[in-house]
Amino acid sequence: MLKIRPLQHADRHPVLQLGVGEEQCQYVGTTQELLSNPPPDWHLHVIEADEQVIGVFNIDHGYSQHMAFAGINDAGLRSFLIDQSLQGRGYGRQAVRLLPSYLQQHYPSMACIWLTVNCRNTSAHQCYLKGGFMDSGELYYGGQAGPQHIMYVSLR
Ligand SMILES: CC(C)(COP(=O)(O)OP(=O)(O)OC[C@H]1O[C@@H](n2cnc3c(N)ncnc32)[C@H](O)[C@@H]1OP(=O)(O)O)[C@@H](O)C(=O)NCCC(=O)NCCS
Repeated sequence: MLKIRPLQHADRHPVLQLGVGEEQCQYVGTTQELLSNPPPDWHLHVIEADEQVIGVFNIDHGYSQHMAFAGINDAGLRSFLIDQSLQGRGYGRQAVRLLPSYLQQHYPSMACIWLTVNCRNTSAHQCYLKGGFMDSGELYYGGQAGPQHIMYVSLR
């Protein structure tokens, strides 16, 4: 069974073991970078399948300070990844589907969750669409690896 929950100290070791393919590194940093000194606005969460940590993501509560399209009560989904060895089995889509109710439960005042995904990262774009995110039809040009689709789910 797939579950998402806040990252705890004991998750650090399994999260550090998570990796993505060489080609995918341009889209997400390493989990080592994610865990080393995250700002207080970043809330890290893990994805578990059968009680094994298989993925991680960051809910950035400071997102609207960096992204003009996000409102003050919104947050951003960042660094969403499933370990390379377990990709393509539906875990990513299932985790995305769980996200709105999970965020409503943990952050009741959150209005909307946003993300940007590189236009060349078609598997992630498809994963988010199939998981229920809307594509705004707008592009974000601020990333280092090229234009990104701006996607969102309203939580209200
Ligand atoms: C994006 C990511 C989280 C998707 O997780 P996943 O568990 O592999 O995705 P799923 O198995 O749930 O697949 C969901 C959809 O994505 C697409 N997809 C997944 N893997 C794919 C691949 N290798 N090639 C093409 N499309 C793919 C398919 O459309 C799939 O739907 P389908 O099963 O109906 O065909 C995972 O590939 C990943 O960690 N990538 C590296 C990090 C990254 O790029 N994160 C996004 C940053 S914005």
